[in-house]
Amino acid sequence: MVENHSQSYVYSPFARLLHWLIAGLIFAQLIIGWTMPDVHHDTLPTGEIAWHLGVGAAIVAVMAIRIIWRMTHAPEPAELSPQLRFASNATHWLLYTLLLVVPLAGWANASARGWMVNLLGVLPYPALAPKGSSTGMALGDIHSVLAWVLLAVIALHIAAALFHRFVFRDSVLKRML
Ligand code: HEM
Ligand code: HEM
Repeated sequence: MVENHSQSYVYSPFARLLHWLIAGLIFAQLIIGWTMPDVHHDTLPTGEIAWHLGVGAAIVAVMAIRIIWRMTHAPEPAELSPQLRFASNATHWLLYTLLLVVPLAGWANASARGWMVNLLGVLPYPALAPKGSSTGMALGDIHSVLAWVLLAVIALHIAAALFHRFVFRDSVLKRML
């Protein structure tokens, strides 16, 4: 009985909505980040850069909801060997950490440049660093490097999901579809 239930477990509709919403926003944000013009000290936050700040503000809001939801709604663990369970938990923890640290570093950098960050053009976010702050400027470099780390961990995560589906042929991928 118990085994059957955990094999057919799927994440709740809201958890799945949040997962795929964040996935879409992150892919868009990486593309915008790498195609937008280089940012210099006199750059204005217009065009693609404005899009990056707007999508970034949405990521911050959705991640705040997602973390609160996850802390109050633990999913049923997948049936995995102890080693795979450890690898899976470690990757998910790393993803959550990067999904928090990367946007916060970008936001602090935007504040240090004196750029306003707001949600859907209406809800202003507070500045995370004073204008001209050297820490805020350094966080811009950290943001850029960690965006690559995030991409690498996402690639590992997707490879693992496909491995479950096509090599192990288990029901792990179905849990999130
Ligand atoms: C930007 C892209 C993505 C990010 C940031 C991301 C992030 C995450 C995170 C943080 C979790 C843990 C959920 C939790 O337990 O609270 C998760 C679970 C999951 N993700 Fe993704 N994901 C992404 C894309 C994908 C893609 C493209 C697939 C499928 C090919 C996928 C398949 C899954 C599956 C199957 C789970 C559930 C694993 C389990 O039940 O243990 N994800 N994802
Ligand atoms: C997970 C979410 C995010 C991802 C994946 C991401 C990704 C990127 C990428 C790839 C770049 C270009 C780096 C380069 O040219 O080497 C970048 C730059 C930048 N991002 Fe983000 N970003 C995210 C969230 C945010 C947020 C929330 C903000 C602000 C509200 C933001 C503000 C910036 C700024 C100001 C730069 C220019 C940094 C500099 O050149 O010093 N980003 N981001």
